[in-house]
Amino acid sequence: MNNSKNEIEKEYIYRINLALKFIDKPELSNILRVIFASINGITMSIIIKKKVMLQKWDDRYKEKGFAYGKEPNVFFKKWLSKFKPGTLLMPADGEGRNGVFAAQIGWKVTSFDQSIEAQSKALQLAKECKVSLEYLVDDLEHLEFKNETFDAIGLIYAHFSGDKKSMFHQKLDSYLKPGGIVVFEAFSKKHLHYNTINPKVGGPKKIDVLFSKEEIIKDFKNYEITFLEEEEVLLNEGKYHIGKGSVIRFVGRKKVSYT
Ligand SMILES: C[S@@+](CC[C@H](N)C(=O)[O-])C[C@H]1O[C@@H](n2cnc3c(N)ncnc32)[C@H](O)[C@@H]1O
Repeated sequence: MNNSKNEIEKEYIYRINLALKFIDKPELSNILRVIFASINGITMSIIIKKKVMLQKWDDRYKEKGFAYGKEPNVFFKKWLSKFKPGTLLMPADGEGRNGVFAAQIGWKVTSFDQSIEAQSKALQLAKECKVSLEYLVDDLEHLEFKNETFDAIGLIYAHFSGDKKSMFHQKLDSYLKPGGIVVFEAFSKKHLHYNTINPKVGGPKKIDVLFSKEEIIKDFKNYEITFLEEEEVLLNEGKYHIGKGSVIRFVGRKKVSYT
């Protein structure tokens, strides 16, 4: 981590000095130096935070076994099975337990995750289960798909940073066909209580990364709501989701014509 931090810092300093060479007024040059240094500091801390998070996921998925098990999430399995298979996007699919299940029941699956270790495990699981799925490695921030491509999107514990999660939902919505469905399960804001008393149940420790029903209604306002509840659940998913927790469960259909 320190090595990559130093390399990023060196690159910034080199670029700033290069830019300042072309300014021959020392006062202006000094003011710009201070501005650049502040921007540099903010950008650096964002980049480092992202790298630390990615390292956390890579380390988790490098462990032996499957972090959240090989079985699909119970709610996802129940609801996805009710719809006619088509094309399915699985953001933040981790080790692929949900994407692989979907492929087994006939969906044409495109999964992605920022972690290359996640991809490796997911492809291993797909091979074991004798199904294929497309699995991309990237941050959702940098991924692009054609508008209105997918018949369904599965968001299962796809916890994104608090300042991006709503924007990410809008981005994902643009890839869903009108009439397409979203199946969603993730920890609710009440979950902070549960993972404080039982760390084995896992889940984010920051309130803005967790969800509320109100946020879902706001993010998916062009959807007919088939199911939306905040529920207490007893999780038994691999070794990182064990025990009582609180989740938001949502199934919605994107309206065909917006009003
Ligand atoms: C709790 S895990 C859930 C994995 C999987 N959905 C499951 O339920 O087994 C959260 C996943 O989100 C991924 N993730 C978080 N932010 C992401 C982003 N901006 N772009 C892509 N993947 C992201 C992480 O790498 C991690 O694999």
